[in-house]
Amino acid sequence: MGTENIRYRPLLDRVTDARTAARHIQHGTNLFISGFTAGYPKLIPRELARRAQEGERFKINLFAGASTGEQVDGILARTDLVHWRRPYMSDRAMREKINRGEILYKDDHLSSLSAQVRAGDWGNADVAVVEAVAITEKGHLIPSMSVGNTPTYVREADKIIIELSNSAPPELEGIHDIFIPEDPPYRMPIPIYRAADRIGKPFIEMDTSRVVAILLSDQEDTCAIFHDPDEVALLIGEQILDFVQHEIERGRLRPGLPWQSGVGDVANAVLGGFLENDFFHNLELYSEVLQDSVLDLIDLGKVRAGSGSALTLSHKARRRFFNELYRYKEKIVLRPVEISNSPEVINRLGVLSINTALEIDIYGHVNSTHVMGSQMMNGIGGSGDFMRNAGLSFMVTPSTARNSSISAIVPMVSHVDHSEHSVDIIVTEQGLVDTRSLTPRQVAEAIIAKCAHPEYRPQLREYYERALKKHGGHEPHDLEEVFFMHRRFQTTGDMRVPPGTV
Ligand code: COA
Repeated sequence: MGTENIRYRPLLDRVTDARTAARHIQHGTNLFISGFTAGYPKLIPRELARRAQEGERFKINLFAGASTGEQVDGILARTDLVHWRRPYMSDRAMREKINRGEILYKDDHLSSLSAQVRAGDWGNADVAVVEAVAITEKGHLIPSMSVGNTPTYVREADKIIIELSNSAPPELEGIHDIFIPEDPPYRMPIPIYRAADRIGKPFIEMDTSRVVAILLSDQEDTCAIFHDPDEVALLIGEQILDFVQHEIERGRLRPGLPWQSGVGDVANAVLGGFLENDFFHNLELYSEVLQDSVLDLIDLGKVRAGSGSALTLSHKARRRFFNELYRYKEKIVLRPVEISNSPEVINRLGVLSINTALEIDIYGHVNSTHVMGSQMMNGIGGSGDFMRNAGLSFMVTPSTARNSSISAIVPMVSHVDHSEHSVDIIVTEQGLVDTRSLTPRQVAEAIIAKCAHPEYRPQLREYYERALKKHGGHEPHDLEEVFFMHRRFQTTGDMRVPPGTV
């Protein structure tokens, strides 16, 4: 790979190798990296891991945009290099160390991080390591497949290391829209009125005097693996589309509201459902991560605009995207996560928001993060940003988990990420409940009857009726019973809802 994409020639003398560049990172460094499911640096993490494997003992504090994958979170966790990690991650090795208390982890709403860094809440921004596809004539940065928190990290960092990648083409230039809002009390409205609106610059402004190293990289993001949607995901998707169509036809919902769909196979399946559907057209997406299905929808002429903070594509879709970049670029805009997930904008646009739960209780409270209330799965990500501020919020889950051995509809969630007040519609493959005009008691009856798996309905009903009889109240619960269940599950590890005890 050559240096032709360093169009600001005075920076040419910063081109170096990973070993030299990584010397700027030492024990205790606060390391701020690009990356938001895609677009993370690869060479520096690999070099840090090499140093650790050769016996150097040091730890860093690692701050990203969101999850980064095996090439960062995986290898840095396995080589024991991470003291602190923020925010969202989804790597198995890192998850295990977080749950053992060996890596400190704080799960934040993704929209709020950049402002916290600017306020200095995370300590000094020592070094930023960012992946880019070009440096412009004026010394500005063109990021790769994600934006995340990179604009703020680049602005705040004492030292900047750039991994200039040829795994994505420099013609990505123009897809990004970079806008850093003023912080309170000087913040003005963020002027986005439609999903496609561009309000910033197509590059990240950078003080070139702080660039200490540039590495030439040919490393690709580890490809996202998408499965063909299973029957459960398809049923969930179909019900959501039927419901929204029905609401529009009855005049209860305005047509043309933009959609957000969380990460994962269910989310991809929901968007895939639009492919077969004749009612929806001219779709707008105001989302966080855009996946393969967005390209399919653009190809069919169904999407007017897709806005997100990252494009996470399978290997096949990446090729297709790069081959016809000029066409996709007209429809797609990548923004900083504080804009893609801005509560103000999500609320103004009236986004139809779909996110996935680990478990949902009979009153509509949602656990998205902690298995059995204790073990961190990934993190809240952007789901809180969207659920609380959406025009209409959908929370989805298969009705059972772990090969049908446990119910995902439970009497009381063991950890709350989204309360009943932020969740409008609950959907499993069994059915859909619109909670908006129901009392908690009505919600419980409806969720048990429509969303729970038939095998678990009698036990959930028995729990609800006993709680109602024994304690009554606005939201009847039998805490002794719930406590007993959780204690039993935690000690035995058996998560099956035992007949007769619920
Ligand atoms: N109890 C215990 N474990 C459960 C569970 C439950 N009720 N439901 C799911 N799981 C486990 C699965 O067994 C699986 O474990 P494994 O990886 O060891 O096999 C894991 O959770 C993931 O479940 P999966 O069925 O593959 O679903 P997913 O990939 O759609 O992920 C979440 C589901 C909830 C983990 C994921 O959506 C998430 O992290 N959400 C929070 C962040 C978010 O919403 N981001 C989008 C915002 S824009």
